[in-house]
Amino acid sequence: MPEQTLYERLGGEESIEAVVDRFYGHVMADDLVNGYFEDVDMQRQIAHQTQFISAVTGGPVEYSGEDMRAAHEGMGINEEEFNAIARHLNTALKEFEVPEAEREDVLDEIASYQGAIVEA
Ligand code: HEM
Repeated sequence: MPEQTLYERLGGEESIEAVVDRFYGHVMADDLVNGYFEDVDMQRQIAHQTQFISAVTGGPVEYSGEDMRAAHEGMGINEEEFNAIARHLNTALKEFEVPEAEREDVLDEIASYQGAIVEA
Protein backbone atom coordinates (compact mmCIF):
# COMPACT_ATOMS: atom_id res chain seq x y z
CA MET A 1 0.00 0.00 0.00
CA PRO A 2 1.44 3.40 -0.89
CA GLU A 3 2.34 5.52 2.09
CA GLN A 4 -0.23 8.15 2.98
CA THR A 5 0.75 11.79 3.18
CA LEU A 6 0.22 13.64 6.46
CA TYR A 7 -2.51 15.59 4.61
CA GLU A 8 -4.34 12.31 3.92
CA ARG A 9 -3.81 11.04 7.48
CA LEU A 10 -5.44 14.27 8.73
CA GLY A 11 -8.49 13.58 6.57
CA GLY A 12 -7.87 16.08 3.79
CA GLU A 13 -8.76 19.73 3.28
CA GLU A 14 -12.23 19.71 4.87
CA SER A 15 -10.92 18.23 8.11
CA ILE A 16 -8.01 20.66 8.12
CA GLU A 17 -10.37 23.59 7.58
CA ALA A 18 -12.51 22.52 10.55
CA VAL A 19 -9.41 22.41 12.77
CA VAL A 20 -8.17 25.78 11.48
CA ASP A 21 -11.57 27.38 12.10
CA ARG A 22 -11.54 26.14 15.70
CA PHE A 23 -7.88 27.13 16.09
CA TYR A 24 -8.64 30.78 15.23
CA GLY A 25 -11.58 30.66 17.66
CA HIS A 26 -9.02 29.99 20.40
CA VAL A 27 -6.62 32.61 19.03
CA MET A 28 -9.32 35.29 19.06
CA ALA A 29 -10.21 34.44 22.68
CA ASP A 30 -6.58 34.92 23.81
CA ASP A 31 -5.65 38.49 24.79
CA LEU A 32 -1.96 37.74 24.43
CA VAL A 33 -2.29 37.44 20.64
CA ASN A 34 -5.75 38.50 19.46
CA GLY A 35 -4.67 42.14 19.01
CA TYR A 36 -2.61 41.07 16.00
CA PHE A 37 -5.78 39.97 14.22
CA GLU A 38 -7.93 43.00 15.01
CA ASP A 39 -8.01 44.33 11.44
CA VAL A 40 -7.54 41.02 9.67
CA ASP A 41 -10.19 39.50 7.41
CA MET A 42 -10.56 36.21 9.30
CA GLN A 43 -12.39 34.40 6.49
CA ARG A 44 -9.41 35.03 4.23
CA GLN A 45 -7.01 34.15 7.05
CA ILE A 46 -8.76 30.81 7.68
CA ALA A 47 -8.72 30.08 3.94
CA HIS A 48 -5.00 30.87 3.62
CA GLN A 49 -4.04 28.97 6.76
CA THR A 50 -6.04 25.94 5.54
CA GLN A 51 -4.25 26.08 2.18
CA PHE A 52 -0.89 26.54 3.87
CA ILE A 53 -1.26 23.57 6.25
CA SER A 54 -2.72 21.44 3.43
CA ALA A 55 0.23 22.27 1.15
CA VAL A 56 3.01 21.72 3.72
CA THR A 57 1.51 18.38 4.80
CA GLY A 58 1.68 17.09 1.24
CA GLY A 59 -1.81 17.87 -0.03
CA PRO A 60 -2.63 18.65 -3.66
CA VAL A 61 -3.37 22.25 -2.75
CA GLU A 62 -1.73 25.43 -3.90
CA TYR A 63 -1.04 28.01 -1.21
CA SER A 64 -1.82 31.46 -2.61
CA GLY A 65 -0.62 33.66 0.28
CA GLU A 66 2.71 35.22 1.08
CA ASP A 67 5.66 33.21 2.35
CA MET A 68 5.98 32.98 6.15
CA ARG A 69 8.75 35.57 6.50
CA ALA A 70 7.00 38.19 4.34
CA ALA A 71 3.57 37.53 5.91
CA HIS A 72 4.83 38.24 9.45
CA GLU A 73 7.58 40.76 8.79
CA GLY A 74 7.58 43.84 11.03
CA MET A 75 4.95 42.45 13.45
CA GLY A 76 7.59 41.92 16.15
CA ILE A 77 6.19 38.52 17.12
CA ASN A 78 8.06 37.02 20.09
CA GLU A 79 8.61 33.43 21.15
CA GLU A 80 5.95 33.49 23.84
CA GLU A 81 3.37 34.60 21.26
CA PHE A 82 4.55 31.99 18.78
CA ASN A 83 4.21 29.30 21.46
CA ALA A 84 0.71 30.52 22.32
CA ILE A 85 -0.37 30.20 18.68
CA ALA A 86 1.16 26.71 18.44
CA ARG A 87 -0.64 25.74 21.67
CA HIS A 88 -4.00 26.86 20.26
CA LEU A 89 -3.40 24.72 17.19
CA ASN A 90 -2.50 21.77 19.41
CA THR A 91 -5.71 22.26 21.41
CA ALA A 92 -7.84 22.39 18.25
CA LEU A 93 -6.19 19.23 16.88
CA LYS A 94 -6.93 17.48 20.20
CA GLU A 95 -10.54 18.65 20.18
CA PHE A 96 -10.98 17.05 16.76
CA GLU A 97 -9.39 13.87 18.12
CA VAL A 98 -6.52 13.93 15.67
CA PRO A 99 -4.26 11.06 16.84
CA GLU A 100 -1.08 11.96 18.70
CA ALA A 101 1.30 10.95 15.89
CA GLU A 102 -0.42 13.20 13.34
CA ARG A 103 -0.77 15.98 15.89
CA GLU A 104 2.95 15.91 16.61
CA ASP A 105 3.80 15.82 12.91
CA VAL A 106 1.69 18.94 12.29
CA LEU A 107 3.27 20.76 15.25
CA ASP A 108 6.79 19.78 14.09
CA GLU A 109 5.99 21.14 10.64
CA ILE A 110 4.70 24.42 12.11
CA ALA A 111 7.68 24.68 14.50
CA SER A 112 10.00 24.62 11.50
CA TYR A 113 8.70 28.10 10.56
CA GLN A 114 9.48 29.66 13.93
CA GLY A 115 12.70 31.24 12.66
CA ALA A 116 10.84 32.94 9.82
CA ILE A 117 8.00 34.25 12.02
CA VAL A 118 9.60 35.25 15.34
CA GLU A 119 11.63 38.45 15.23
CA ALA A 120 11.42 39.99 18.67
C1 HEM B 1 2.66 29.15 14.30
C2 HEM B 1 2.98 29.30 13.05
C3 HEM B 1 2.27 30.23 12.09
C4 HEM B 1 1.84 29.91 10.85
C5 HEM B 1 1.99 28.56 10.15
C6 HEM B 1 1.21 31.09 10.31
C7 HEM B 1 0.63 31.17 9.05
C8 HEM B 1 0.09 32.29 8.50
C9 HEM B 1 -0.49 32.37 7.17
C10 HEM B 1 -0.58 31.19 6.20
C11 HEM B 1 -0.91 33.62 6.97
C12 HEM B 1 -1.60 34.19 5.72
C13 HEM B 1 -0.65 35.02 4.89
C14 HEM B 1 -1.33 35.62 3.68
O1 HEM B 1 -2.56 35.72 3.66
O2 HEM B 1 -0.62 35.98 2.73
C15 HEM B 1 -0.61 34.36 8.19
C16 HEM B 1 -0.93 35.69 8.41
C17 HEM B 1 -0.88 36.29 9.64
N1 HEM B 1 -0.30 35.80 10.78
FE1 HEM B 1 0.53 33.99 10.97
N2 HEM B 1 1.27 32.11 11.22
C18 HEM B 1 1.91 31.63 12.34
C19 HEM B 1 2.16 32.33 13.50
C20 HEM B 1 1.68 33.58 13.78
C21 HEM B 1 1.83 34.25 15.06
C22 HEM B 1 2.61 33.68 16.25
C23 HEM B 1 1.17 35.44 14.96
C24 HEM B 1 0.97 36.51 15.98
C25 HEM B 1 1.02 36.30 17.27
C26 HEM B 1 0.64 35.53 13.61
C27 HEM B 1 -0.06 36.58 13.09
C28 HEM B 1 -0.50 36.70 11.79
C29 HEM B 1 -1.26 37.83 11.29
C30 HEM B 1 -1.72 39.04 12.10
C31 HEM B 1 -1.51 37.57 9.93
C32 HEM B 1 -2.35 38.43 8.98
C33 HEM B 1 -1.54 39.31 8.11
C34 HEM B 1 -2.49 40.16 7.26
O3 HEM B 1 -3.34 39.61 6.55
O4 HEM B 1 -2.36 41.37 7.36
N3 HEM B 1 0.97 34.38 12.92
N4 HEM B 1 -0.01 33.52 9.09
